[in-house]
Amino acid sequence: MPPPPPDDALTTRIPPTCPASIAELLHHAWRHDLAALKPLLAVPGRASVQEPTTGETPLHAAIRSCASTSTSANADPDPDLDAAKAVVHELFLSGAIWNDVDSNNETPGCLAARLGQEALYALCVEAGVRAELLFGLLGGDGYEELESEDEEEEEEGDEDGENKDNTENADEPIDIVLESDPDRAFAFAPPQPAAADPDVNSDEYLRSQLTYDAGKLVDDSQNGVMMAWETSIMRASVDALLTPGEKLPAAGRTRVLNIGFGMGIIDGMFREAHPSKHHIIEAHPAVLEHMNGPDCTFGKEWEASAPSEGAYKVHAGRWQDVIPNLLEQGELYDAIYFDTFGEDYAQLRNFFTEYVPGLLDENGVFGFFNGLGADRKVCYDVYTKVVEMHLSDAGMDVEWQEMDVDMGGLEEEGKGEWQGVKRRYWTLDKYRLPTCTFMG
Ligand SMILES: C[S@@+](CC[C@H](N)C(=O)[O-])C[C@H]1O[C@@H](n2cnc3c(N)ncnc32)[C@H](O)[C@@H]1O
Repeated sequence: MPPPPPDDALTTRIPPTCPASIAELLHHAWRHDLAALKPLLAVPGRASVQEPTTGETPLHAAIRSCASTSTSANADPDPDLDAAKAVVHELFLSGAIWNDVDSNNETPGCLAARLGQEALYALCVEAGVRAELLFGLLGGDGYEELESEDEEEEEEGDEDGENKDNTENADEPIDIVLESDPDRAFAFAPPQPAAADPDVNSDEYLRSQLTYDAGKLVDDSQNGVMMAWETSIMRASVDALLTPGEKLPAAGRTRVLNIGFGMGIIDGMFREAHPSKHHIIEAHPAVLEHMNGPDCTFGKEWEASAPSEGAYKVHAGRWQDVIPNLLEQGELYDAIYFDTFGEDYAQLRNFFTEYVPGLLDENGVFGFFNGLGADRKVCYDVYTKVVEMHLSDAGMDVEWQEMDVDMGGLEEEGKGEWQGVKRRYWTLDKYRLPTCTFMG
């Protein structure tokens, strides 16, 4: 049975126990009373207060109060909507946080999407893009990845010296104070207790044990590295990369580079297209061992079957270490695909900014697995725009092809395809497939 829809009533979201100074702000936001709200927002931090038990922020309140009108069949413009937009806009100007989650595990953008408030949703996405671009500028390599609320809480727990291991009390609500500001002391009981394992990072991943089993590749913390349900995405990616447009060489003459072998799904598809050159970069020792073992057909024999010396080749190592050599050797490709694991967005950005220009033929095509922010629609939409802007900075145009994802078996954490996998890293029924080419 699907869970009942969240209770959006004012008295539920701003209960009588709410501290007066927070309740005042939330009520003004709920009523879209900009005149009353503005003076309060002049004090730093007030735009991001949270009701201590429901996590309601002024953004949530301003959006949620549109709930009753959002389903109205009346086609006339809703006068309240302009007021709501003005309040949301003002809140963002005053420092409201675009991805705070409430007790329903909804960001303001998630809420706007659920209520069908497209204009308010668009404001949340724009604010998210601004925030993420700023993080990119400020952080350089430390680009802040969008996080699920579980991850945020784990980190906050770390900083406060709290025990991250919640597994022993998995049925009990977890009270975690998110910030030292008492007006953001939202005690959130997440629907899924936070996992005890640390976040995946590249060095740890590359040292971990891997298991290939039917339909998936997992590391020793049960992180899904690659899963068979992604096959249709790999198929569409190959089709987008290899379909000879007017610029690409005809099938059979294409030079391909794939970064990240995983289960070899995409490499099997590239191979079927008989490329003239097919290079694979893979870093994990267990994947490399698998490639040379009896269950895989990408070992030495495959390399030896190349039409010319070195044309089919597995480059063992991290792409960061391998690619400088390929550049030095003057290798060029018509199609490049990038799908690694355990790396953050800064690595992908670095790859297409620093290396794609030197590796890709001027008429070539670059693609990547677009799982950025895929555990929430609003995050996915934010990252689509962020990556588009960064690709543009790198001199590339991107075309997005939206395709359906068959969600059968993917709906529930820990069930169906996710059985034996720690985190349901994909929640969306649409995949946005990127095809990138040089501008001009
Ligand atoms: C998601 S899987 C790729 C799946 C692949 N697209 C397929 O169709 O099966 C990611 C792969 O990237 C590899 N990888 C992770 N970091 C890497 C790095 N820095 N350089 C090269 N390969 C890396 C992982 O070991 C893993 O085999």
